[in-house]
Amino acid sequence: MTKNGTLQEKGPIGVFDSGYGGLTILDKIRKQMPEYDYLYLGDNARTPYGPRSFEVVYEFTLQAVKKLFELGCPLVILACNTASAKALRTIQQTNLPVIDPTRRVLGVIRPTAECIDQLTKSRHIGILATSGTIKSESYLMEIHKLFPDVTVTGEACPMWVPLVENNEYQSKGADYFVQKHINQLLEKDSDIDTLILGCTHYPLLIEKIRQFTPAHIRIVPQGEYVARSLQDYLRRHPEMDSRCTKNGTCRFLTTESTSKFEESASIFLRQDVMEVESITLE
Ligand code: DGL
Repeated sequence: MTKNGTLQEKGPIGVFDSGYGGLTILDKIRKQMPEYDYLYLGDNARTPYGPRSFEVVYEFTLQAVKKLFELGCPLVILACNTASAKALRTIQQTNLPVIDPTRRVLGVIRPTAECIDQLTKSRHIGILATSGTIKSESYLMEIHKLFPDVTVTGEACPMWVPLVENNEYQSKGADYFVQKHINQLLEKDSDIDTLILGCTHYPLLIEKIRQFTPAHIRIVPQGEYVARSLQDYLRRHPEMDSRCTKNGTCRFLTTESTSKFEESASIFLRQDVMEVESITLE
């Protein structure tokens, strides 16, 4: 019960992304914590969020969070860097206290920023992300709060999400766009020794990113760091952990057609995806 006597709902952990990218995060979270229940929501009908304005990303993300709350999630992970960069803070500070102060919304940028210290030796890191995430400077701010001595250089890669969403990420055509952005980033700072994949779609491009990146540079997908950070959060917050149900289930919601989601999500997760339901957000 809450202090004012209302019942605190129990339910699955909500995982939200603009499309399929968040599945790379969900995959790592489920591997780390298979006992929990999960409800994934992809706003596939309105993806990509990367080029959209702050106001629109905030509005769409808030709609998704409200939907996941309505469906019983006590905790929602914004498994989307663009949504974390443009909507998380306002939702945490302005909306949550009004909607339900006992629920929580967490993002992916802070847990990724926390790992930087253990990864870089040169103290120069590169962030590959959507235009929205780079323009927001969220990585720069989060990293500098923790490690002010680290030089952070960003590179927006606007074509990478469409390549992944359209299943062209292994094609020859993808080479041009991957090489172009890696080169542009390294021209801006040649001391970079760590590349953060600051978009949940990019792990699917990792083979190509490796191909065009000098071997001494470490390439870091964020899924494992987000998963470990969530596990740590639940250990430190037993009141939230006890509200997360644990039957090992996973359900999927999409704003697109279920058949399209099943097909594409199976590529991301490398396993059959069933139990998909179509919903509308408003
Ligand atoms: N997956 C989202 C992210 O991590 C980006 C996809 C989009 O542009 O919608 O930033």
